[in-house]
Amino acid sequence: MPLEIVRNDITKMSVDAIVNAANESLLGGGGVDGAIHRAAGSGLLKECKTLGGCKTGKAKITGGYSLPAKYVIHTVGPIYQDGKHGEQALLESCYRESLSLASANGCRSVAFPLISSGVYGYPKDQALRVAINVISDFLLENEMKVYIVIFDKASYKIGEKLFADIAEYIDDNYVEAHFDFRFESVRMSMPCGHKSSNSGRSVFETRSLSESVERDSLGEKLKQLDESFSQMLLRKIDEKGITDAQCYKKANIDRKLFSKIRGDIHYKPSKPTVIAFAVALELSLAETEELLKKAGFALSHSNKFDIIIEYFIVRGNYNVFEINEALFAFDQCLLGA
Ligand code: APR
Repeated sequence: MPLEIVRNDITKMSVDAIVNAANESLLGGGGVDGAIHRAAGSGLLKECKTLGGCKTGKAKITGGYSLPAKYVIHTVGPIYQDGKHGEQALLESCYRESLSLASANGCRSVAFPLISSGVYGYPKDQALRVAINVISDFLLENEMKVYIVIFDKASYKIGEKLFADIAEYIDDNYVEAHFDFRFESVRMSMPCGHKSSNSGRSVFETRSLSESVERDSLGEKLKQLDESFSQMLLRKIDEKGITDAQCYKKANIDRKLFSKIRGDIHYKPSKPTVIAFAVALELSLAETEELLKKAGFALSHSNKFDIIIEYFIVRGNYNVFEINEALFAFDQCLLGA
């Protein structure tokens, strides 16, 4: 999973580089700046004094000293005023400059705090959105493991409205646990002529499709019945007209795992991985359920993770990073994990 949102103390992260939310003097301060200097020891300040400061939006690199990380990348975020003074562009530049500095120094893993979202007052959810957008764009073109490190739950929240919306959706659906989504999808995939429980007519008779189209799609359907997860995944990638790389990058799945799936038609992935691909391929709820079934899983209304996924799919929102922000906010495991 190339981009992960984790809750941790960035000074504890064993990565090639951690990023420091510094000020233009680079001579230390409070917040994460203070924590990094304390954990790194006096050698860090000594080196910082040789750098001659750093402009807002720019980044400079030093050694990690007593930190588990090999490097510290110091970047200076904008002080948030009202969002109309170029704050977003400067914050985007912090992430972009830090990532290119990390890449230029051969770093394969980098951890970011939420720059400017503390003392500098950048609204947390907007700061997170900027971080996710810039980092995910970078990861489309580069191989690197990037962490966004949230120090405490309080300093992390998705938009209030989105949070309330999802919480309400969970309440509604979680309460209806007796309506088992699995039964619904099994009924729909019953062989032709099966009498559905309510209308007494065959499942296919209730369809509005014309006879001939129905027969073709039935033929297609029967052919796909014994298709494995991996075969269905590759078929869907072809149908969508995207490359393998575009698919697994959008699913936030690393290349190694994808080649395992591509290489073994009987490969059994984890449920979050299946859903990450379904989201990357922008499958409908029924297609998602079909892909899950190929891997031996089903969406269930007695599982918050599944209900949150369903919330996004039925709204046609397939942004894996936004979905992961929401899963993180509800203490669920993340997609592609
Ligand atoms: N690990 C990870 N994140 C942390 C840690 C930590 N140990 N400590 C704080 N944070 C988080 C905060 O919760 C916040 O979300 O880092 C984010 C950035 O907050 P600040 O450290 O206040 O940085 P910023 O808002 O960019 O302000 C920079 O503050 O510390 C001074 O010298 C610094 O003047 C500069 C200003």
